[in-house]
Amino acid sequence: MELSNLINQMTLEEKAALCTGASAWTTTPVERLDIPELIMSDGPHGVRRVPDVNQMAIKSLPATCFPTASCLASTWDVDLIGKMGQALAEEAIALNVGVVLGPGANMKRSPLGGRNFEYFSEDPYLAGEMAASFINGVQSKGVGTSLKHYAANNQEFQRFSISAEVDERALREIYLPAFEKAVKQAQPWTVMCSYNKVNGTFASEHHTLLTEILKNEWGFEGLIVSDWGAVRDRVAGLQAGLDLEMPGPQDRRVQAVVDAVRSGKLDEAVLDESVRRILQIVFKAHKTPKGGDFDVEAHHQLAGKIAAEGIVLLKNNGLLPLQGQKQIAVIGRSAEKAHFQGGGSSHINPTKVAVPFKELQARAGDAELTYAEGYPTDASFRQDLIDQAVGLAQAADVALLYIALPTFKESEGYDRRDIDLTEQQIALIKAVAAVQPHTVVVLNNGAPVAMNDWLDGVDAVLEGWMMGQAGGEAIADVLFGRVNPCGKLPETFPLKLADTPSHLNWPGEMGQVRYGEGLFIGYRYYDAKEMPVLFPFGYGLSYTSFAYSNAAVSATTFKDVDGVTVSVDVTNTGAVAGKEIVQIYVHDRQAGLVRPHKELKGFAKVELQPGETKTVSIPLDFRAFAFYHPEYKQWITEDGEFDILIAASATDIRHTVTVTLQSTVTLPCILDKESTIREWLADPRGRAVFGPFYAKMETEARKMFGGGDERYGNNESAIGMDIMDMFNEMPLVSVLMFQQHALPAHPEDLVADFLSKVHNGD
Ligand code: BGC
Repeated sequence: MELSNLINQMTLEEKAALCTGASAWTTTPVERLDIPELIMSDGPHGVRRVPDVNQMAIKSLPATCFPTASCLASTWDVDLIGKMGQALAEEAIALNVGVVLGPGANMKRSPLGGRNFEYFSEDPYLAGEMAASFINGVQSKGVGTSLKHYAANNQEFQRFSISAEVDERALREIYLPAFEKAVKQAQPWTVMCSYNKVNGTFASEHHTLLTEILKNEWGFEGLIVSDWGAVRDRVAGLQAGLDLEMPGPQDRRVQAVVDAVRSGKLDEAVLDESVRRILQIVFKAHKTPKGGDFDVEAHHQLAGKIAAEGIVLLKNNGLLPLQGQKQIAVIGRSAEKAHFQGGGSSHINPTKVAVPFKELQARAGDAELTYAEGYPTDASFRQDLIDQAVGLAQAADVALLYIALPTFKESEGYDRRDIDLTEQQIALIKAVAAVQPHTVVVLNNGAPVAMNDWLDGVDAVLEGWMMGQAGGEAIADVLFGRVNPCGKLPETFPLKLADTPSHLNWPGEMGQVRYGEGLFIGYRYYDAKEMPVLFPFGYGLSYTSFAYSNAAVSATTFKDVDGVTVSVDVTNTGAVAGKEIVQIYVHDRQAGLVRPHKELKGFAKVELQPGETKTVSIPLDFRAFAFYHPEYKQWITEDGEFDILIAASATDIRHTVTVTLQSTVTLPCILDKESTIREWLADPRGRAVFGPFYAKMETEARKMFGGGDERYGNNESAIGMDIMDMFNEMPLVSVLMFQQHALPAHPEDLVADFLSKVHNGD
């Protein structure tokens, strides 16, 4: 049946009820019309299907726990993330789930964000690519996704109420593009609005975000669901474009919608549109037959493969891969009890868990492994555990320190207070490194940690992230060289917390958090401030090395709409096979508005045998060069030169190619009566109309202020300044007010006349 026919047959009460959940995880079915329920489950890195849909957070059914988003993004591997999406869908089908609540595409504004482990990156391009391939993977199997949390959900502090005060340009260029890319490239079935307010309005009631931008501008076809508990005013939500409220039941809210339609406060057409969007997804999900099994072993293997690709080798003095050590001291609780996921709504009940220690044993040949716990689960300080670890480390050829950031330091629901490991963990690393020159630190955490206290004392560091249930295998494979690490950081590791971009505006007060750093988060900030960091964005080592050569572009001059393709040859110059992640950043040499020094606009991952060379080609489109102009309310390009930086990380630029862009954007004239002289001259229409007048104005000004007098030098006036430098920054009308005596008409009339000419062409 046509959806419109079905909607016509629904009563007002049924329509209102459909727009609010029936349980914690299901939509409201309408049996008399054969409208089934839709079952949703978290998300994002595994299916958290609770056996009773009326319960929010009971133990879920076993499912594969894949690595969390920080690790996924470190793979920079869109195909692999797509495969993970397919596996998630298979599990969703087996567990009778229609929509998996993920991926999360928010920016990591600060490393303190408690939920950063669930988000991909500090860079919108990388996060958008990851989110899009995740969604495409899941949805290719007939299961939906929920792209979340839209928008500007970048902290846990007061997450249900805080207002993210973010300027339009930062919103458009930093906080929205990952969502935009994912919507345009993958059409998620649902988008989840966030709890917080954005510039004073709840995301769940934000007409600009939900309807104007997401639905109208980006063409989002699916339904918008509230985050669980994010609705304050159901009617205002519907009016803003929020289709479905979760969780349910919420009888009072349903009644409020019915009453609002009856009283004429809510246009029934608005309700019908939400009903249409919901029905469309309900039936789409229903079409996919559910049940059956999923391949537990194959998915575990896939989780391990992703973890291995996501591990980032941060430091290696040549100790890794391990070779020939006879006595290996394995230290740290997380070697016995893997730390592989974060706390909160994404917490998965894994099908099985690889024990890192056992995985080491399985690969260690005839080496002898010893184990010490090293640190407790809580914040207490236990010198005895350190002493025991030091004893084992002393007796060994190498010490492997498994250090996991405990849940009390990092989880959904609360932010981190610092970026440090626990006091005990720091003391442990230092004590072990003091007696054992061959020390490796294996980290499990969802977001950057500081390392200044101990980094110099250890030989190698592996960032293992929240690595999913098979991560213990992946780490062992990397340590023993069965896998060559290739992950690169999707976020900057700062030297210290005080260096971070949002430091002075975190986490906000009096209900607001001001995004004072604007566009400058992550590497954009460290670039602008020329600040050293611990490890830069895009950084990661390998057991081999790569050379870049023959950098080229498809055209040195091109039109923005045509874009340009960059290519470079990458050669594996080492002795083992490996993978390199090539990054393309764009630097605008001159722009009308302030821009970050460089921005990631493309990347490619390439696998190379020793000695092998491959050519990597990366296309750059209009958006690679554009910026959002809040006055024109659109993405614009400007004529001019751009540097294309071909890089191995944000601070390791291998080649730079300069290209010239020809803009095809025709901009409306935005001159108004407050426009400055400089703005009049910068605008082509303004220049044509006002330009001829400018010379007269200058002469008059110099006459008035004594310019040209020999005593004052060339253009210096009697008041010791170049008067035109000041006037150029003043509104045209204000300057003319000083010259009234010499003008043919009153300055206000003159400016009005100019404006009518530039706007109407008369
Ligand atoms: C989280 C969402 C999650 C939902 C359902 C919320 O608290 O913010 O990410 O999908 O709960 O568990």
